[in-house]
Amino acid sequence: MHNCTLIAPAKINLYLEIIGDRSDGYHELAMILQSIDLADQIDIQTSSIDRIRVRCDHPQVPTDQSNLAYKAAALMTAEFPAAFLKHGGLNISINKRIPISAGLAGGSTNAAAVLLGIDLLWNLGLTQSELEELGARLGSDIPFCIAGGTAIATGRGEQLAPLPSLDNIYIVLAKYRSLAVSTPWAYKTYRQQFGSTYIKDRESLAARAAAVHSGDMVKAILHKDTKEIAQQLHNDLEKVVLPEYPLVLQLRETFAKSGVLGTMMSGSGPSVFALCESKQQAEEVKSHVRETIPDQDLELFVTQLITHGIHVASST
Ligand code: C5P
Repeated sequence: MHNCTLIAPAKINLYLEIIGDRSDGYHELAMILQSIDLADQIDIQTSSIDRIRVRCDHPQVPTDQSNLAYKAAALMTAEFPAAFLKHGGLNISINKRIPISAGLAGGSTNAAAVLLGIDLLWNLGLTQSELEELGARLGSDIPFCIAGGTAIATGRGEQLAPLPSLDNIYIVLAKYRSLAVSTPWAYKTYRQQFGSTYIKDRESLAARAAAVHSGDMVKAILHKDTKEIAQQLHNDLEKVVLPEYPLVLQLRETFAKSGVLGTMMSGSGPSVFALCESKQQAEEVKSHVRETIPDQDLELFVTQLITHGIHVASST
């Protein structure tokens, strides 16, 4: 029996631009993704029973075949049947700290950890790009979650170009426990409202993605200029989520009024983060938001940007 413990960090979007439609029904995106120091722990154990079993300490996380971690394990067993036969089944246990349905890639990072963990347990020796390719089949954010850090993601979100890492930057992260935004709903609504503005021809799509590569946010990241990064925060999905979810708008406004460097919704929401000047400021802002919105349903975290994705804590 072998086991492996992995730490799977969440991500935030420093930048999310919807450029156009894709023939596969998804959107052509240009995003800047950033790992944060808020992580789930994933334990994977080989077992004598030839099946995949997922457990999670969070009651709202499904543990059946709809769980992305389960799907990642199922993909590995289908891709590497000989290794599955040799090593037996898989018991996967998820210790959840990342808020769920939050726009923080909680499910995606769990799946990324499972791909990496099984690669280790089965001694497959897959490369990072092979793991990313497997991850892309299950979800657009999974490839980024593997190596993490700071990266530009284009295409469906699976084409990655690393950027110099940012760290030592603190954020406050806020999420209402019982509030969830459906990602397909957010993109579908965006298409209904803004589809007429989408860039249509291939050349212009590529030119727009290239413009983000050489744009102001990337320059700010290259200069590690936190104030400028805060100025350049952008998320097109705010245009459809904020009008529909007044609580998210209120969070955004409360952060903005509390003197932070910048604030933005992450992904399709409903989590909102605020970039701060220091850990101390982040703690003060957290207290201020807690006083202004004394709702027990609101979860608040002080955390920081980190330079890596999945981390192997132990493997035997
Ligand atoms: O790839 P993933 O399963 O994470 O995407 C969730 C949903 O988000 C998709 O079903 C789609 O509706 C939307 N999406 C999109 N374009 C992308 C990524 C996601 O329209 N590039």
